[in-house]
Amino acid sequence: MKVCVIGTGYVGLVGSAIFADWGNEVIGVDIDDSKIKKIEAGKMPIYEPGLGEIVTENIKDGRLSFTTSLVKGLKGAELVFICVGTPQDDKTGAANLSHVWDVAKEIGENIKDYKVVVTKSTVPVGTNERIKRIVGKHTAKGVDFDVASNPEFLREGSSVEDMRNPDRVVIGSDSKKALEKLRKIYDHLNTIIVETDLRSAEMIKYASNSFLATKISFINEMAQICERAGADVSQVAYGMGLDRRVGKYFLRAGIGYGGSCFPKDVAALYKTSTDQAYDFKLLRSVMEVNENQRAYYVDKITDYFGKNLTGKKIACLGLAFKSDTDDARESVAIKIIRTLRGLGAKICAYDPKAMKNAQEILGDSNITYTENAYDAMKGADALCLLTEWSQFGELDLGRVEKSMVAKVIFDGRNLLDKEEAEKAGFAYFAIGKRASGVDYTRFEEGSSAILESANGS
Ligand code: UGA
Repeated sequence: MKVCVIGTGYVGLVGSAIFADWGNEVIGVDIDDSKIKKIEAGKMPIYEPGLGEIVTENIKDGRLSFTTSLVKGLKGAELVFICVGTPQDDKTGAANLSHVWDVAKEIGENIKDYKVVVTKSTVPVGTNERIKRIVGKHTAKGVDFDVASNPEFLREGSSVEDMRNPDRVVIGSDSKKALEKLRKIYDHLNTIIVETDLRSAEMIKYASNSFLATKISFINEMAQICERAGADVSQVAYGMGLDRRVGKYFLRAGIGYGGSCFPKDVAALYKTSTDQAYDFKLLRSVMEVNENQRAYYVDKITDYFGKNLTGKKIACLGLAFKSDTDDARESVAIKIIRTLRGLGAKICAYDPKAMKNAQEILGDSNITYTENAYDAMKGADALCLLTEWSQFGELDLGRVEKSMVAKVIFDGRNLLDKEEAEKAGFAYFAIGKRASGVDYTRFEEGSSAILESANGS
């Protein structure tokens, strides 16, 4: 099938590559000429395991090409995927759809025969109907088209694998013909293809991301109560996650969720709810808990050192918003580093992939970027673990202990084993774990007092 993909961000670039790898003839369109030239030369604009090889191979085999010309991209294409960014509007929290509207107008102006215009970008409910109106307004007389929604669920860092083996594919349209054509590109996959109306498909994407964010905020609140009550949130998450109705994923407590998707999508769904005169209270709390989680982590550091961190050297491992990516957008690690720097600390930072992107956001003031994790810890007063890279969980604590001045670890991702860290001579603070030296019997007294009053005694 001939396919046009507009936008070469995470969704667009991975989508183009995988569609081509499935045997389709794909042309990727982007307004950024230099980006396209780099991709054509085999230099991926993002770090994504396996992507470079697939792109290069499919370009070589003649199934994949890129252009800045939408006219060229549209020629002969049956499916036209819109994969442009929908960033958060800072003022309202809603998704900013200006790129989507621009592309819809251009598609309308340039199509000459029947197309299915498919939105893969994450867009609020009702957007595809407006796309239909915009395309229709600019289409020449007699040229037919349909619109469809096909939200993407891939995760950064495992996007190739996610797109090849999705848990489900969602396609929504009010046109049977469009659904049939769209189904064809996915039919060979061993997965369920969910057919819906336009609005439901749009909503499934926001509901999925918001529900996952809710799981994270839930476990982060559990962490708060576990820590106070002397339980261990990792053990609790494991025990509850084995129940298939609960599910074991997205129950890792930490410093809160970040990235270019969850924060913006939860905010956008909340905005949709208020637009519909409904206050989605649960989502409001999900966002609030996520913000507080960061402050709760920083409080651990200031409780230990005091609020003035001037003269303290803090080693920060992890800059990306999560592991296996070089993406530092909306990274909680970056926000925490900003706060620590604001309190006077000197930061030594390391991340396996996100150094360059993080440096562009944070600059160089009071930050040294080191070439490896161990260099960051030399002469440090504290170690902060901020991104869940697996290599940080395998640090040689004996070596770390020797190179640091003060021996304290603030593990924001529960990567290390508390006993091992303490055995290696560290004061160890994690998320939702029993703290050393706290008298937990006060909680038992508290709970029995509650029980007694409930029994009327
Ligand atoms: C997320 C969704 O998982 C994808 O399904 C979706 O397609 C994508 O957004 C999107 O809308 O484009 P992504 O942002 O790449 O994917 O990253 P996730 O793996 O979902 O992680 C998001 C954040 O949650 C990260 O900051 C991560 O560290 C945090 N997280 C995740 C936790 O704090 N605890 C967990 O248990 C899981």
